[in-house]
Amino acid sequence: MANGEFGLERELKIIKSGIRSVFTPHIPVDEIQHFFGREEEATRLVSVINSPGQHILVYGDRGVGKTSLAKTTCKVLLHRIQRGLFFEKSCDSNDCFSTVFEEPLEKSGIDFSFKERTQTHNESGGAGINLGMAKADVTSKREVKTTTSAIFKPNSPSWVANQLKDMSGVFLIDEADSIQSNEDKKKISELIKLLSDCNSDFKLVVVGIAKTGEELTAGHPSVERCLKEVSLQRMCNDDLKKIILNGMKSLSLIPDDYVVNKIVDISAGYPHFTHLISLKCGEYAISNNERHITRNTLKVALSEAVKDSEGALKRMFDTTLRALNKPAEYKLLLLTAAYCKSPEFRSAELREKLNSKFGVNIDSQSLSRRLTLLTKGDKLTILEKPARGCFQFTDPRMPSFLKMALNSDDNEI
Ligand SMILES: Nc1ncnc2c1ncn2[C@@H]1O[C@H](COP(=O)(O)OP(=O)(O)OP(=O)(O)O)[C@@H](O)[C@H]1O
Ligand SMILES: [Mg+2]
Repeated sequence: MANGEFGLERELKIIKSGIRSVFTPHIPVDEIQHFFGREEEATRLVSVINSPGQHILVYGDRGVGKTSLAKTTCKVLLHRIQRGLFFEKSCDSNDCFSTVFEEPLEKSGIDFSFKERTQTHNESGGAGINLGMAKADVTSKREVKTTTSAIFKPNSPSWVANQLKDMSGVFLIDEADSIQSNEDKKKISELIKLLSDCNSDFKLVVVGIAKTGEELTAGHPSVERCLKEVSLQRMCNDDLKKIILNGMKSLSLIPDDYVVNKIVDISAGYPHFTHLISLKCGEYAISNNERHITRNTLKVALSEAVKDSEGALKRMFDTTLRALNKPAEYKLLLLTAAYCKSPEFRSAELREKLNSKFGVNIDSQSLSRRLTLLTKGDKLTILEKPARGCFQFTDPRMPSFLKMALNSDDNEI
């Protein structure tokens, strides 16, 4: 076998190089040396957390770098300026208000495993029971039987605020959009308001996928004053370039300018794709004992990157093409749409692009018909129509995926 048994020789070379901790497409960055750009947002986050009574909400599209921004800045902040505890909770659809705060509550001394305890002791011995406990005494002549039961109200924002307000630290609540109930989201907002009112040093950083901050706070009105918002947009090309160049340099790899520009172009502001393609380029070069990353390396890397892409994107692309009569035609159409400047495009713009890039002439009615077909179906479709005559990709990361999948198919643009 060329790369040793089951590719082990190749794997060993790659592991030894350390490339998988430099380019990390599937995990957020949490160390300053791998974190690029976002100066303005990081500065705002630090200053808000350091301002009495203020908490922060970070929102934006899927995959723009929300968790990386929140994690890296919190870690740096706690390390260099504030001393305090750091808690992190990644929410899922099963979470509600009471489950979100379990860890900090436990740290504050709440023992959730404790429900009820019965103690027997003689009359003179008084049981010292702490806050949060109810006491029922059953007295006999010689003995006192004391049943203590815990009064926990993890569902109540004011009870939770009371337990947490004297702690110092930061609590990162990630994937807040996964919390299903608006009631629970509202309760988080209420808690923020209560912590803010008592000037607590326990700060919340709420992070989630959303178009507006309101989606994550369920429109709670009075929280606005104490919950500052950071809307995270896609990364700019210069910062994406920094990810590639710094990473490659640390691995002693030399990418051609063409490769760097192409990776930036395909990424379209999404650092995930920058990491993914750079990783695949680097892995290929390292396993072949090469230092230069050339156009040919990129070609192999793109098809590897497609194999490693998120299942949801791959499935949507495959099922869309499988359902069509002339998939090659639609591939070209989708690839051209992926190169449209703004997320929303009109069929006239696409028509013009098809002509200038590929010399393809198509009448406007047939093009509109084809585009509309891509918005129709029982399941989630690859395109949607936000307004009459306007189209956009349902998943904003789809253009990057298409550029990877179709460029590696030899459709060089
Ligand atoms: N500032 C940055 N510098 C370098 N790499 C970054 C930066 N921000 C994000 N990344 C990389 O981009 C990818 C996506 O980042 P991250 O997981 O933080 O995004 P997200 O918005 O939280 O995604 P999701 O919506 O899926 O939770 C990761 O591979 C991460 O390593
Ligand atoms: Mg995230």
